[in-house]
Amino acid sequence: MRLTASVRVERSRDTLASNFRPAHPTCFSTSLEANGYEGAMKDIQNIVILTGAGISAESGVATFRGPDGLWEGHRVEDVATPEAFQRNPALVQNFYDERRAKLKTVHPNAAHQALAKLDRTWAGDLLLVTQNVDDLHDRAGHDLENGGRLLHMHGELNSAWCLACDARSRFDGVMAAGPVCPHCHQSGGLRPDIVWFGEMPYQMERIELALARCDLFVSIGTSGAVYPAAGFVQTARYHGARTLEMNLDPSEGSFHFHESRMGRAGELVPGWVEEILSHGLC
Ligand code: OAD
Repeated sequence: MRLTASVRVERSRDTLASNFRPAHPTCFSTSLEANGYEGAMKDIQNIVILTGAGISAESGVATFRGPDGLWEGHRVEDVATPEAFQRNPALVQNFYDERRAKLKTVHPNAAHQALAKLDRTWAGDLLLVTQNVDDLHDRAGHDLENGGRLLHMHGELNSAWCLACDARSRFDGVMAAGPVCPHCHQSGGLRPDIVWFGEMPYQMERIELALARCDLFVSIGTSGAVYPAAGFVQTARYHGARTLEMNLDPSEGSFHFHESRMGRAGELVPGWVEEILSHGLC
């Protein structure tokens, strides 16, 4: 399958702790089926799945880029950097308080539920890495007791980080009100437990190990504009994995994938999960 799309190259504002970016993105994809995907399915044991804002779009959570994206209405530099928080903590707290309040009004969609089913069923290794700070994967029915195969690399809206005592705690209220840390009992020290630009994403070591071991890497609903997540496809391919992208439009790194399926996550992901369960380990 050949795809065409205009490719946006965003600069350093979309880079977290790494500056790495492919030199010359173009947009096309090759079909895994054409490359023997069907035959290779039986060899798939270890899967890494990366999700982005697109998987939550059908639940009513705004994505970051695009016409109605969050970064159209807010400058990253004003709300998503440690410097912004130092400069204007109230603005930053309000931004995340609004996002946190919104979570109470939205629900997991068919894509979240299908991935939770895959997680519960898949007998091989599986790691679901989400860039999303919403809790829709968590609420979709994962077996979170089962060693936790879900990882929030950019943090979580429902987690607070106390700058006074360094403890993390579950939090679903209004942080701008200056609540007390449940660990050290000081007020005013809590910040959103979100990875801001210039900060290191969570659990990179675990992610890198899983990418090195995986047979299949799947990217869902992400623009591929932010590193290090945007580079996972290259790491997985370097180690021999097959790679599949499911997105509304080709991502910036679309050309790195063996196969790109274009459409809504809520429609594509359940079908893909059934496909892999019917071929693979379960
Ligand atoms: P983006 O907003 O950059 O990209 C969302 C992607 O989802 C786009 O490529 C859309 O085409 C696609 N999309 C939209 N609706 C979809 C649907 N229904 N089904 C499938 N795909 C759909 O969001 P991310 O790639 O997640 O980081 O952004 C990455 C990071 O940039 C975020 O984690 C955040 C942001 O700055 C931090 O805040 C640290």
